[in-house]
Amino acid sequence: MCGIIGYVGKRQALPIVLEGLTRMEYRGYDSGGVAIVGAETIQCIKAKGKVALLKEKCRLETIEGAVGIGHTRWATHGEPSERNAHPHKDCSGDIFVAHNGIIENYQALKEKLVRKGHKFVSETDTEIIAHTIEEYAKTEKDLSTAIRLALKDFHGAFGIVVLSKKHPGTLIAARFGSPLILGIGKDENIIASDATAILPLTNRVIYLNDGDMVVLSENGFEITDFKNGNGRQERKTTTIEWKSGSAELGGFPHFMLKEIFEQPQALRDTMRGRLLPDEGTVKFGGLKPFEERLRSLDSITLVGMGTAGFTCLAGEYAIEELAGIPARREVASEFAFRRSAPCKQGCLIAVSQSGETADTLNAIREAKRRGMLTLGIVNVTGSSIAREVDAGIYNHVGPETAVASTKASVSQVLLQEMFALYLARMRGLSKSEGQTIIKEMQKLPAYAEKILTSAGSIKRLAKKYKASRSFFCLGRKYNFSSALEGALKLKECSYVHVEGGNIAELKHGPISLIDKNFPSIVIAPKDSMYEKNKSSIQEIKARKGPVIAITTEGNKELEKIADTVLYIPKTLEMLTPILAFIPMQLFAYYLAVERGNDVDKPRNLAKSVTVE
Ligand code: G6P
Repeated sequence: MCGIIGYVGKRQALPIVLEGLTRMEYRGYDSGGVAIVGAETIQCIKAKGKVALLKEKCRLETIEGAVGIGHTRWATHGEPSERNAHPHKDCSGDIFVAHNGIIENYQALKEKLVRKGHKFVSETDTEIIAHTIEEYAKTEKDLSTAIRLALKDFHGAFGIVVLSKKHPGTLIAARFGSPLILGIGKDENIIASDATAILPLTNRVIYLNDGDMVVLSENGFEITDFKNGNGRQERKTTTIEWKSGSAELGGFPHFMLKEIFEQPQALRDTMRGRLLPDEGTVKFGGLKPFEERLRSLDSITLVGMGTAGFTCLAGEYAIEELAGIPARREVASEFAFRRSAPCKQGCLIAVSQSGETADTLNAIREAKRRGMLTLGIVNVTGSSIAREVDAGIYNHVGPETAVASTKASVSQVLLQEMFALYLARMRGLSKSEGQTIIKEMQKLPAYAEKILTSAGSIKRLAKKYKASRSFFCLGRKYNFSSALEGALKLKECSYVHVEGGNIAELKHGPISLIDKNFPSIVIAPKDSMYEKNKSSIQEIKARKGPVIAITTEGNKELEKIADTVLYIPKTLEMLTPILAFIPMQLFAYYLAVERGNDVDKPRNLAKSVTVE
């Protein structure tokens, strides 16, 4: 969702800013813009639609200057249009601002500014930032002081970057609630909302904290605390290990397909250095200081949004089954607004690929209010969630670029199950039981590789179902998670209507929809739910509904009942979602391609949803 970039250095800023915007396209956006400080003026170019269009418009102009900002916008206030695209400027055309987040009190501020004579051209909340700074700059000569005073007026979440014609050679950025990362180069500095935009220049970064304001020039930077008025701040420099090239296609037609095929490696990377086969347990470096508290937990709540939230449905079963701790999954946005009693022996696990999902962050804050221990399962290092939780576990699967989550999701399920095993071994699960689980976990990458060899037949299946307008995606127990996730993948990429659900609920209403044009995907591995799932498949077939079944290799029985059977290797029941996700991802991918959709950047969606 929205991307910000700002560059100051010795080189031409425009190509660097545009490259940064291209690298942030995956976050989801609907328009973009750049502003570059030239010798006499600031040139600002905007375009509705893709960054490629913005590049085309820039190509037609001569835009020179070594300081510039850029933005990709995901509309919140006002339709996607050139007029609403950032950067936005003040009345005098001196101050330009790009902004991520939402200024909640913008209406009241706007009315005040209009009364003072300010003229607004867009419907955005962002434009008031430029005008508020302009207002303070009338009395404050120093731009950073004017910005600091303006920031105090804003309620909500923001990451902003500001440039001014009167202060060439300087960029000012500030963060409160929306991520900003400072990249430190040689004779150049860069600021962005996403590390992928920084990596072509440098991998030395500082993750700004809420309340930080940074003044950047080609020679250096200074961070101060605008929130509490504390002066200069020292912040730790981190070296990012992700390679710049890992965010490139590498011969695949889409990032989604590339990331689906990276899953065997993602599973290996998730387990690397963490499995202790001799002891039949798992180790998580970050959890060590909390071992005592983890031993005495009386409940666990798992939260996330979208895919991350659905993986928690597998996690809750595993934690209850292995560790015997009451566990429940809750949609993060709902947990955040429930004011329940303190829960000092409880733990909240926040699951998020990006580590920036606003609803999930809110849940963490609510859990802290309740006195709960907060843990994170996060892929992006240094992200807001990674820094706000008491302790965390990283997925280590590298950057995930396609909006629809694939490799992060299998890693999320696996980590929750590894965590369940870790807790279970503290609470009496035997070493040999632990060893059996670990042995099966170690086989998962090879199993994933095997499933990927069926990509060709899944592609043909997608052709067959190209015209279907509605699907069910159904499962139970561990694979209730797979059913909801499979449905989400199809919705996100192929834009078909899919109802994901618990197959046991089918006969209580939804079955009335079944007819020969309403196919169902049923996840039915040979496990404790198999016989019940088989009966449900028969009920669907009795009403002429086409069935695509996903079952365990060697189980030929479903071929006699279902229209199509896809196979996953035999594994432990709790690990089946990790494998079952994969054929459904491939089906969603190929169906999206068949339907001519923008697979990596589906309409209306954002990879990282930083607003509530
Ligand atoms: C957005 C994306 C989903 C993703 C969800 C949670 O809605 O479109 O694909 O699952 O956010 O993202 P997170 O980064 O917290 O895992």
